Amino acid sequence: MNILVTGATGFIGHHLVTQLKQAGHAVKVLSRDAARAGRKLGVPAYDWHYAEEEVPPAALENVQIIIQLMGENLGTGRWTAKRKREMYESRIVSTRKLVAAAPASLERLVCGSAIGIYPGTGDEIYDESFVVPAEAGFMQTLCRDWEAEAAGIEAKGVRRVSIRTGVVLGDGGMLDKLLPIFRLGLGGPVGDGRQWLPWIHINDLVGVFLAAALDSRYHGPINAVAPNPVRYRAFAAALGKALHRPAFFPVPAWVLKLLLGEAAALALNSYHVVPARLLQEYDFKFQYADLPAALADLVGQDKSGT
Ligand SMILES: NC(=O)c1ccc[n+]([C@@H]2O[C@H](COP(=O)([O-])OP(=O)(O)OC[C@H]3O[C@@H](n4cnc5c(N)ncnc54)[C@H](OP(=O)(O)O)[C@@H]3O)[C@@H](O)[C@H]2O)c1
Repeated sequence: MNILVTGATGFIGHHLVTQLKQAGHAVKVLSRDAARAGRKLGVPAYDWHYAEEEVPPAALENVQIIIQLMGENLGTGRWTAKRKREMYESRIVSTRKLVAAAPASLERLVCGSAIGIYPGTGDEIYDESFVVPAEAGFMQTLCRDWEAEAAGIEAKGVRRVSIRTGVVLGDGGMLDKLLPIFRLGLGGPVGDGRQWLPWIHINDLVGVFLAAALDSRYHGPINAVAPNPVRYRAFAAALGKALHRPAFFPVPAWVLKLLLGEAAALALNSYHVVPARLLQEYDFKFQYADLPAALADLVGQDKSGT
């Protein structure tokens, strides 16, 4: 298949492109720095600055699948008003432009989304049937609007999937930030540690994206989280155990809020989310359904070099 990927240079994107290439697909990417993206990924790359220009037509030629992952990173730095606008627009405006420019050859749009579409409080279990209320916070609004823009493609008879991604465990993202602290034996739960953490191993997430792109049964919003979410306290203990380090140092919620401001919500919110559609409708087989096995794979053989 001819596949166009945005955000391809990122943590999830570069794993996905590697798998797509290995499976023999013809991959092209859009990037703010095409020369760098082409060097990194070894595929044709096209410059695109979404705020200033339309999608370059050459990138869209003969494309059958678009995988839309680009967006200002939510997990780094404070959420200033300027960055929040960029987080929103780099996803919503770019998706709108991709939908408007979709070529006649397009069959599928697989778009990012996140578990941030759910309320982020308490123990209630959420699946894809949840409806975001009209009045909602920043992350819920961002995810809801992102999915709505992507769904615009359906009017053109194109199948759309929005992947509500959980906390991805791999060689990037959250683990990248936690590992140096945990390796020093200074890790531990944040807040009261009771919040739910809906993790997913990077290999399984890539598997979900591949299935969403290539299996014609997949459509609509899909929770991409492992079937066995844990509370943050259990996650910290499991990570400490995998690294053979103590993990008893709690980080109080107020310290995190002081350090990160509104972005502290990423660690403090509670998302008890289950992959209902993946399991019930698609019989998706997770390679890593349980956290200890996922962590053993990722950090178990002490990949720190220490
Ligand atoms: N990682 C997670 O745990 C997680 C969880 C839930 C949802 N997601 C979502 O999944 C998507 C991919 O995640 P990721 O972790 O792979 O992200 P990432 O590593 O931050 O990569 C995102 C890519 O988007 C492009 N980008 C970044 N800022 C941009 C901006 N302001 N304007 C235009 N393009 C920009 C960059 O590509 P170029 O530099 O090549 O342009 C970058 O490589 C994101 O939308 C993210 O919100 C991720």
